[in-house]
Amino acid sequence: MDKVTIHTLKRLKPAGRKICMVTAYDATFARVLDDAGADVLLVGDSLGMVVQGNDSTLPVTMDQMVYHSRAVTRGARRAHVVGDLPFLSYQASIPEAVKNAGRMLAEGGVGSVKLEGGAEFAETVEAIVRAGIPVMGHLGLTPQSVHKMGGFVVQGRDEETARKIYRDAQALERAGAYAVVLEGVPLELARDITESLAIPTIGIGAGVHCDGQVLVCYDLFGLNPDFKPKFVKRFADGYGTLRGAAESFFAEVRSGTFPDEDHSFQSKTLRIVPGPKPAALTTGEEKVGPVYGVPV
Ligand code: KIV
Repeated sequence: MDKVTIHTLKRLKPAGRKICMVTAYDATFARVLDDAGADVLLVGDSLGMVVQGNDSTLPVTMDQMVYHSRAVTRGARRAHVVGDLPFLSYQASIPEAVKNAGRMLAEGGVGSVKLEGGAEFAETVEAIVRAGIPVMGHLGLTPQSVHKMGGFVVQGRDEETARKIYRDAQALERAGAYAVVLEGVPLELARDITESLAIPTIGIGAGVHCDGQVLVCYDLFGLNPDFKPKFVKRFADGYGTLRGAAESFFAEVRSGTFPDEDHSFQSKTLRIVPGPKPAALTTGEEKVGPVYGVPV
């Protein structure tokens, strides 16, 4: 089982093999997704919405990204792990961007970072790459610019904005990005960008022609019954399954059927406080004494 690197990912495009990327925010989900065959796990700043319950990704901090990255990298074995640079961690200055990208590798343990934006961040991408840190770009619907975009709306629908996104993709490739996420753009634009780049494109709401696809894991698992955007396909009814399991647990607790003997510990050698004894502990030859829990 060879670890996926950015070089593996670059080779998949000419080989015509699609890249499978998915977000993860903790070690347990990382383990499930890695075992299922993910090529890339993205510690997305979408955690600000799906984990923290905010209505945008803007409140997410560097410390939080490092914390979640650390957890995901502990759970991932084969997949390449990418960490998002959160809002204001790279926009203010290039030195700050390089330092924060470095924190994601040194403290978070990720193998590369992702940042949102096009030609205006080409120098930032160059500087981070020069520091030895691989960078994944992110174009189209860029959630950190939600207020500038006027909401989470599809980008590049008219010729002018489509041309800008196309030029931005070329600028990111020239700056040294090893891949680029295309989010919320018409599939025709994503196809033209994909055909024009040597580096792979990874789409979310960008159609089938991208070199790979990414979804937020909570969305593909169907964990939020109220979130039904066009680009999300639910591959499981996670909400229904988990809610059903929790309801069964509560019902068994209330009826006294859980925990049963199979899920309880018993000892024949405990000294039990005198008085009424729990049935499960009075069936053997245990000695009864004044100190509960001390073996005799
Ligand atoms: O933060 C995130 O989850 C992302 C993906 C939607 C690409 O950036």
